[in-house]
Amino acid sequence: MPFTNFYAAGLLALTLVGNACAVPVVSEAATSVFSEPTNLPSPYAISHHNVTSHGPYNGPPATTTGALSTSVLAPSIAPAPAPPQILQYQPDGKLHADQPMPFTPSGGIGTNGSLPLYKVASDFDYQSLALALYHEWIELDLFHWGLATFSDEEFDSFGINAEDRHLIQHMADQEIGHASVIANMLGASAPKQCTYNYPVSNVQEFVDFNQKLTRWAEAGVYGFLPHLDSGPAAAMLLQSITVEARQQMSFRQFGGQFPMPEWHTPGIPQSWAWTLLAPYISSCPADETRLVWQNFPTLHILNQPNPARINGADVWNETTWGPANSLSTKDITPDESCVNGTGTDTANSSMDCTAAIAQNRSIPLSYPGRQVFLHWDAPGQLVGPNNSYVTTTNVAEPRFAAWLSQLNVTYTPLLNVSLAERTAYTVQPNVSTWKGDPAVNGTMFMALTDTDLFVTPYNVTMINPHVAALAVYQAG
Ligand SMILES: *[C@@H]1O[C@H](CO)[C@@H](O)[C@H](O)[C@H]1NC(C)=O
Ligand SMILES: *[C@@H]1O[C@H](CO)[C@@H](O)[C@H](O)[C@H]1NC(C)=O
Ligand SMILES: *[C@@H]1O[C@H](CO)[C@@H](O)[C@H](O)[C@H]1NC(C)=O
Ligand SMILES: *[C@@H]1O[C@H](CO)[C@@H](O)[C@H](O)[C@H]1NC(C)=O
Ligand SMILES: *[C@@H]1O[C@H](CO)[C@@H](O)[C@H](O)[C@H]1NC(C)=O
Ligand SMILES: *[C@@H]1O[C@H](CO)[C@@H](O)[C@H](O)[C@H]1NC(C)=O
Ligand SMILES: *[C@@H]1O[C@H](CO)[C@@H](O)[C@H](O)[C@H]1NC(C)=O
Ligand SMILES: *[C@@H]1O[C@H](CO)[C@@H](O)[C@H](O)[C@H]1NC(C)=O
Ligand SMILES: *[C@@H]1O[C@H](CO)[C@@H](O)[C@H](O)[C@H]1NC(C)=O
Ligand SMILES: *[C@@H]1O[C@H](CO)[C@@H](O)[C@H](O)[C@H]1NC(C)=O
Ligand SMILES: *[C@@H]1O[C@H](CO)[C@@H](O)[C@H](O)[C@H]1NC(C)=O
Ligand SMILES: *[C@@H]1O[C@H](CO)[C@@H](O)[C@H](O)[C@H]1NC(C)=O
Repeated sequence: MPFTNFYAAGLLALTLVGNACAVPVVSEAATSVFSEPTNLPSPYAISHHNVTSHGPYNGPPATTTGALSTSVLAPSIAPAPAPPQILQYQPDGKLHADQPMPFTPSGGIGTNGSLPLYKVASDFDYQSLALALYHEWIELDLFHWGLATFSDEEFDSFGINAEDRHLIQHMADQEIGHASVIANMLGASAPKQCTYNYPVSNVQEFVDFNQKLTRWAEAGVYGFLPHLDSGPAAAMLLQSITVEARQQMSFRQFGGQFPMPEWHTPGIPQSWAWTLLAPYISSCPADETRLVWQNFPTLHILNQPNPARINGADVWNETTWGPANSLSTKDITPDESCVNGTGTDTANSSMDCTAAIAQNRSIPLSYPGRQVFLHWDAPGQLVGPNNSYVTTTNVAEPRFAAWLSQLNVTYTPLLNVSLAERTAYTVQPNVSTWKGDPAVNGTMFMALTDTDLFVTPYNVTMINPHVAALAVYQAG
């Protein structure tokens, strides 16, 4: 352990050293570069274990409930003008100031030689990275759990062979690194591993839940990354989330879906990621760090497109429970299944959704003009670790469906709204980001709102006071 003393003195070296055999992430050569105690994260992987308990929480009621909070200054944040230096800058291709060193333009953040500190720098940073860490922990367990739970034969029958399973194992192990890097930047109070409850009973449901979970984990980070106070923390997290994006694509491929139909990956508010994640966490240790984020009520997409069907759009009430709205196979007959699917035309390979690098889907999962039938939960439900968070909303009457995908939030009116039944339907809009690229596509998000507030990728969080319920929508 040649690095122990060196890093123990470092600003961010924590008492997380539990895996004595962990491989240092920096090489020996790198250490000689720094003569002072380093600000690099600890080179030791975080202590972790294999979660052995799964299923719903059935312990005693939590003594502390609800999100973490201090004094709340206002119900929403008022729009304000753009920063003057961005307005004033002339993008004319010329240099407008002296250069700090050769071949280097003026400007940039964190470019003046100041020491990078790989730590969180505000409550915003702390809460955002803590949320990301909850995701890394669940993925570490979930991917291992699936491999341990389902037989090799079952994986094989969906075209997921031994080498593919090694990839899943590898993706699980990558989470050790992601969790370590985030925990290091958070310090000793970083959230710990929890126990989980998965809406999964076979390989297809496992793969679909994974591609949905990794999508909201990924989109959750994109939502806050450019807002972090700590640029160094953002840099480290970015280098994990790019791997998470690849995991999302791989799980789509294992489910026989086109790997990346969208041209842009959306970013979502932190409270959306937390809403989608929390119901799948059953319990956390007694001293677990709590989060500030909101839990919105679950939105159930009654005809959520089912990627395991040849005709995935022709479907009713075929999700597992919870806001992921991940697929259920319970009602799919063999001739309706797209694994080895040939439909009526045996030469038509695009009816097939066996694991592959890319699969064309002859019958789209969703399309403009599709009626989407909705049911949403009332607020006030206990969710998350030890059932200690409570779903809330300010909205008395939802009026719009917000389709959040790619670069866009597009609203469509809710029709036939029944407040008594908490049901409505809406119609998929025909919108595109750029010519030829349908905005509504891929694994994306839907919220019910009381107003059609205009938001763009950098201010999408301003939608939160208007959100009534939330779901993942499977558009392609
Ligand atoms: C978790 O279990 C896997 C086998 O399923 C094993 O390879 C791994 O070493 C275990 N990890 C820990 C931290 O015990
Ligand atoms: C570099 O920039 C940071 C913030 O932008 C500032 O706090 C710091 O004082 C600057 N350092 C130098 C050496 O100018
Ligand atoms: C798909 O076809 C392959 C090759 O015939 C077979 O091994 C596999 O079990 C089939 N999968 C399913 C789900 O029927
Ligand atoms: C989504 O994108 C894929 C790939 O570009 C395309 O084939 C498909 O038709 C799109 N789906 C929708 C609903 O537009
Ligand atoms: C949550 O439940 C677990 C398992 O029952 C228990 O060990 C833990 O102390 C509980 N956490 C809190 C904050 O009560
Ligand atoms: C959907 O199915 C569940 C059982 O899987 C049932 O409890 C629920 O009432 C159904 N909802 C609708 C709207 O059909
Ligand atoms: C495959 O079958 C689907 C559904 O019957 C049809 O829409 C599509 O045009 C067919 N594709 C080819 C290449 O024959
Ligand atoms: C796949 O889909 C694209 C776009 O819909 C189409 O142009 C192409 O011919 C399809 N290829 C096959 C082999 O089905
Ligand atoms: C909407 O409500 C009207 C009036 O009750 C009814 O005629 C219509 O069938 C409903 N539409 C849908 C799609 O449920
Ligand atoms: C969607 O809009 C495009 C461009 O306006 C149009 O060509 C296309 O027919 C529309 N599709 C539907 C299903 O309305
Ligand atoms: C979607 O985003 C693109 C790119 O920012 C924009 O040009 C387009 O107008 C947006 N579409 C809608 C319906 O908001
Ligand atoms: C979000 O940003 C857009 C500009 O990109 C602006 O027009 C809009 O008013 C902003 N929305 C809110 C709620 O601040």
